[in-house]
Amino acid sequence: MSPDLSSAKPASPGPVPVQKGLEGVVASDTKISDVDGVKCELSYRGYSIDELAGKASYEEAAYLLLNGALPSAGELADWNRELADRRPLEAELLQTMERLPFGDPMAYLRTVVSIMGLRDPHAEDLTRLRPQSLDLIAKFPTIVALFDRLRNRRAMLGPRPNLGHAANFLYMLHGEDPSPAAVAALDAYFVLLAEHSFNASTFAARTSVGTQTDVYSAITAAVGTLKGPLHGAANSKAMEMLNEIGSADQVEPFVKKTLADHKRFMGFGHRVYKGEDPRAKHLKRSAEALADTDDPKWLRISERLQQAVWDAKKLAINVDFYSASLLHYLGIPTDLFTPVFACARISGWCAHVLEQAADNRLIRPLAHYTGPRGLRFVPLDQRAT
Ligand code: COA
Repeated sequence: MSPDLSSAKPASPGPVPVQKGLEGVVASDTKISDVDGVKCELSYRGYSIDELAGKASYEEAAYLLLNGALPSAGELADWNRELADRRPLEAELLQTMERLPFGDPMAYLRTVVSIMGLRDPHAEDLTRLRPQSLDLIAKFPTIVALFDRLRNRRAMLGPRPNLGHAANFLYMLHGEDPSPAAVAALDAYFVLLAEHSFNASTFAARTSVGTQTDVYSAITAAVGTLKGPLHGAANSKAMEMLNEIGSADQVEPFVKKTLADHKRFMGFGHRVYKGEDPRAKHLKRSAEALADTDDPKWLRISERLQQAVWDAKKLAINVDFYSASLLHYLGIPTDLFTPVFACARISGWCAHVLEQAADNRLIRPLAHYTGPRGLRFVPLDQRAT
């Protein structure tokens, strides 16, 4: 006999306000990073990004995010060695990657992460989240650089143990030793893009791991979420926009047309920041350092567009705006911008996976149902055609 639950049924709480897009909703505590949207400030584990940008290497920033404190010299040496050991891809994974279709680079990266999960016999072992995370952080740049070489039928290049994270990526992508300026610019970019609290892709990763699924599934979800143009793909869309404008004197007509067409300016606006994204000035500075020896055209268009959109709509720039020029000056193909973003964000994702798993509760919000109720089932042969 089933138990009588009628007396235990609580009264319905009635309508509750809906926060569309979860705007303003605080979903959990975190010690990893803090975003102050009003002051337009961002800090990792208590360090303002103004403190870290240009001073910490990506390896140090990743250590800080995952472990909660900056490493000592000895700890950093061990960490660097461990990352270097994990950067090469196993032969079987390489063979599989060669056989995959070379379509959208983010779809490719998402698939490779999924395959890594399929190939790891210990994927479901949640006591291995930390080494699995390190593996993903170390391998992301190798996968992205290799994708570009494979699709262009260029010889595969493995990572070099004597090069750091940023330098290795540029070496594997371009096949030559990168300049110190290029390494410094990409390293700063990686640090600045490493972490950003409960953004959509990180929240996707935390939601996944909240079900006690494996880290590969969580990161697959995160990569798929970052792929969207309102999130990570805004950097390549911003570059496409600069290309469409073509020259600084075409900025104002472009702004007028975009407003008339009710389209969005890519690299502008933010859900949390009420003014300029605190990462933007650092990225602009890095882009300027590279443009000195290159064509400054993209920066000139960007500066004029930044002013024109502010004048027209009071919209400030976000992290993706100057990322576009910076990554372009580094010789990175536009469709690789978002995978390169993922190479930075993977450490933030993994830090959140570890934090969520350490103090887990299933993430399961409610929905306000707005459809019809009480409908009667109509047999198929009696339904209107
Ligand atoms: N260009 C033009 N208008 C924009 C805009 C942009 N980049 N960003 C926001 N707006 C406008 C919207 O049209 C809307 O105007 P309306 O109320 O007159 O319709 C208003 O600002 C609010 O937009 P909404 O989409 O509700 O804000 P949000 O907080 O949900 O959006 C983003 C945040 C990031 C999705 C949004 O600013 C955007 O689409 N930006 C462009 C993509 C981008 O750069 N993404 C990277 C984010 S780091």
